[in-house]
Amino acid sequence: LPHEPLHEQLIKLRMIKQPAEIKAIQGAVDITRAGIDQVRAKMAAGMYEYELEAELDYAFKRAASRHGFLPPIMAAGKNTTILHYQANRARLKKDDILLMDIGAEVANYSADISRTYKVVGAFTEREQAVYDSVMSVHQATMKMLRPGLHWRELAVNVDTLMGEQLMKLGLISENTRAAVRRYFPHAIGHSLGLDVHDACDYKILQENMVVTVEPGIYIPEEGIGIRVEDDVLITQNGAKNLSADIPYA
Ligand code: GLY
Ligand code: MN
Ligand code: MN
Repeated sequence: LPHEPLHEQLIKLRMIKQPAEIKAIQGAVDITRAGIDQVRAKMAAGMYEYELEAELDYAFKRAASRHGFLPPIMAAGKNTTILHYQANRARLKKDDILLMDIGAEVANYSADISRTYKVVGAFTEREQAVYDSVMSVHQATMKMLRPGLHWRELAVNVDTLMGEQLMKLGLISENTRAAVRRYFPHAIGHSLGLDVHDACDYKILQENMVVTVEPGIYIPEEGIGIRVEDDVLITQNGAKNLSADIPYA
């Protein structure tokens, strides 16, 4: 046999999911949903972020699961604008929003889900406007996903749409990549599987890949950070959102 680099074959094996792998990820998503339900049932002003983390621990362990590859992000108020916030030790105020980025695990496959909710009552007008912008990019991204789409094309199209939203929100004055990065400083998604950012060649989307869709807008000067993250299966003609049942608001 000729010498072939093994890592290329391993990348392919890991980025295209078998039915059993998709089932494991769906299982992890479903347990994550139970955790989010538990957090929402308990969250109240005056609690600490780590108390909500404890509720999540409880729900996951009751389901014979645990946190996947990433420590849970449980961020309230201005902490929502800190990308990899993991201290989880601030106290929730009644006007806060809460951003959680979490994932349970099944058979070494983990979910990677973000939701942003108001701790008490409804979003302010401004928070709602930012939320709507994030969701409009989310929905447009879901429509774009299909086998054959280049990751690079996806990234460029998402940046354009995100830039339009950031202009509408009055945050930037020209729709350039540099301007968009100021408020959306991460990728729209990544391969998900045995690792949170799973092995992938990041060239062309293919059927049976599982990827995240995670638009976010972070405005430190206003203390508002909103991210919505779903886990999505690339199908023959498009994409299936595996976490669509987890409430968005
Ligand atoms: N929290 C890391 C990610 O969502 O990719
Ligand atoms: Mn995440
Ligand atoms: Mn992610």
